Amino acid sequence: MEINFKNRDIISITDFCKEEILYLCKQAKEMHDLEKNNERDGLSNELKNKALAYMFYEPSTRTKTSFITAMRQLGGSWDGFSGIEGTSVMKKETIRDTVMMMEANHFDVIVMRHPLGGSLQWAADVALIPVINGGDGENEHPTQSLLDIFTLYLLSDENLDGISIGFGGDLSHGRTIRSLSLALSCFKDITIRWAAEDFLGMPEDLVELMKSREVGVIREKSVEDVISNVQFYYMTRPQLERMEGITQKDVMEMMKKYRIDLNKVKESNVKLMHPLPVNSEIAEIDYEVYFDGSQAFFQQAENGIFLRKALLHEMLKGVESVQFSGKLNHLLEYGNNRLKRIIKENVKEKRRFIDNITNGTVVDHLLPGTEQEIVAELDLMDRGSSAIPAHLPKSGKSFLKTDLRELNERELKKITLISPEATINYIKDGKVADKFVYLLCKNINCVTRVVNEDIPPKFYDDTGTIRCRYCRKSYSITSEKVSQKEKEEFINLLPEGIEQIKFHA
Ligand code: CP
Repeated sequence: MEINFKNRDIISITDFCKEEILYLCKQAKEMHDLEKNNERDGLSNELKNKALAYMFYEPSTRTKTSFITAMRQLGGSWDGFSGIEGTSVMKKETIRDTVMMMEANHFDVIVMRHPLGGSLQWAADVALIPVINGGDGENEHPTQSLLDIFTLYLLSDENLDGISIGFGGDLSHGRTIRSLSLALSCFKDITIRWAAEDFLGMPEDLVELMKSREVGVIREKSVEDVISNVQFYYMTRPQLERMEGITQKDVMEMMKKYRIDLNKVKESNVKLMHPLPVNSEIAEIDYEVYFDGSQAFFQQAENGIFLRKALLHEMLKGVESVQFSGKLNHLLEYGNNRLKRIIKENVKEKRRFIDNITNGTVVDHLLPGTEQEIVAELDLMDRGSSAIPAHLPKSGKSFLKTDLRELNERELKKITLISPEATINYIKDGKVADKFVYLLCKNINCVTRVVNEDIPPKFYDDTGTIRCRYCRKSYSITSEKVSQKEKEEFINLLPEGIEQIKFHA
């Protein structure tokens, strides 16, 4: 097969096949060998005149530095921001506009990290230059998993089939476990063993996904049970920044028996990996282990430089910059998240339903008590639109009628955030012209839930599971008003897999 990374967005590890992962490992090994043979300078002009923009909305040491090191050693340049202080994000500039400014400044590639899941897919949709995901919320960190896989490749005589690996720490709130599991699922006879408290355990949906890809996933009672049965142990730090309503002390208590100390590793041949950083207060890996032969995490970090050098080289070598057009592709204006409702032909009922509205919108099936909040959020009174909020206690029905027509994405999103899966009816000349449910991702940390970004939510059909195109979390339709037939028709209309919208010339 032809392998080509030129001008390609690097958003999810699921966009890679086994052959592509192995190809990158091979290229990274060449970078590794050049370094170890003191021949690094041989490639020092390869990316001359190419520039990397880094956009780190969240803290980073390794990812940011290793991309910069990679660019420096290949003769390119770099600029950007680490933390939003001092940028116009402080003035409420959107991701979209910030990405477009990087493009306007003639960068050739962007690496970005952002706390919202799906924000990197959005950046890639908007940008005319390739975008690399440096971590998006709890979702993914594809270059971390590539460097992890590269480390496993070096430590396993370049054979990734048949690997057994243990997972520990926080398997629930981080993105590295998800990306690494997905990457490992490309290989044969993989076994994952893990032990953690339920709160920090492997997410059920990930376990199911791994099993569907024929990866063995086994939960053990203790770290010792895991370590004695695997070749590699991948420890992770508790992602406190993504845990609400829980203190560091609570987490320390949960992690106590799962910490890695010398006693746990000394009787085994296990290689210890960790994406780093280690939380020095929780110390999920005891300091003494740093000096033990089992430790492979600093090697892993250095491997990140080789892997990212290989990746940037593949993406940028020989690629001409594309002129910034400043225009969003029209395909992005509409999301395929509108679940069509059947318009009944009963005229009598229709007339009663659209009472007094000849042209406008009826928002039906609202959660009781939310109609006033929607009137306020849509600012209907002050902008001169009519608003008839109603709650019928007998039937429990709540709805809202307004002469406002054709709600925009922000307005639809606001309604759905207040009352999920309401039915939107557009009325034209006294008849229901369109009737649909606006589906919004249920992940509260998904980029599509940010009203000001104006991102139209999109879903796709992942072999029968409806997934958000951006944060990739699954969605199940719950509204009782939606019939089975309507649900099935909606799924049948979804695109299969991820449709990468490409704008590159
Ligand atoms: N492993 C990793 O992503 O580290 P940083 O957060 O320091 O980039």
